[in-house]
Amino acid sequence: MSESTPSVYDVIGMRRDVRAEFTGQVVSHDVLGRLLGAAHSAPSVGNTQPWDFVVVRDRATLATFAAHVAEARRRFADSLPPERKSTFDPIKIEGVEESGTGVVVTYDPTRGGAHILGRHTIDETGLLSVGLAIENLWLAATAEGVGVGWVSFYDEQYLTELLEIPAPVRPIAWLCVGEVERFQETPDLERFGWRERRPLADAVHLEKF
Ligand SMILES: Cc1cc2nc3c(=O)[nH]c(=O)nc-3n(C[C@H](O)[C@H](O)[C@H](O)COP(=O)(O)O)c2cc1C
Repeated sequence: MSESTPSVYDVIGMRRDVRAEFTGQVVSHDVLGRLLGAAHSAPSVGNTQPWDFVVVRDRATLATFAAHVAEARRRFADSLPPERKSTFDPIKIEGVEESGTGVVVTYDPTRGGAHILGRHTIDETGLLSVGLAIENLWLAATAEGVGVGWVSFYDEQYLTELLEIPAPVRPIAWLCVGEVERFQETPDLERFGWRERRPLADAVHLEKF
């Protein structure tokens, strides 16, 4: 990585979902602490901070979860029509073991009690707050030259039991966090022909949708 500090726009532009580029080197305790600190600085509805972070480094747990993800991937592949299946086949969807660290981000819908300022109208704002913590971690990792890959190919109940997550807390994401040589410039799903990014102009509406 360059010695000069990248701007926030540089970091946003460099961020990639990483699957294949993990070197196998585990991130240091200090770096991981900074990434978790960035996640924990996210905005949240009613300042509830409804997230927790489970750091998983036990090789046996990583292998067990990777096997579960491989099965979920197989089921998805089997559900696809032939031409989508052949596009999907070469796409890697996780780096659970290669990254060496899983950060499982959870959501506690009871955090903050009964009268949550702002969630009284839109319940999903709690879950969205967890998404912001994840994005903070992702951007901080990118600035550190560390790769992050979001894995959602899993059964929620399975992961809840694997990590002994108490009800009603829900696992929202398994993040593979690890050292990388480089970031790809183009998202994998675009490089492999699965789906392209939309032009900004298609997403921006003036005055009315
Ligand atoms: C909520 C969410 C879930 C995701 N789940 C997966 C996943 O299970 N496996 C995977 O390979 N990528 C997953 N991704 C990564 C996306 O595929 C990726 O962000 C998208 O293709 C754009 O690529 P980029 O992040 O490199 O810009 C997920 C991303 C998000 C935001």
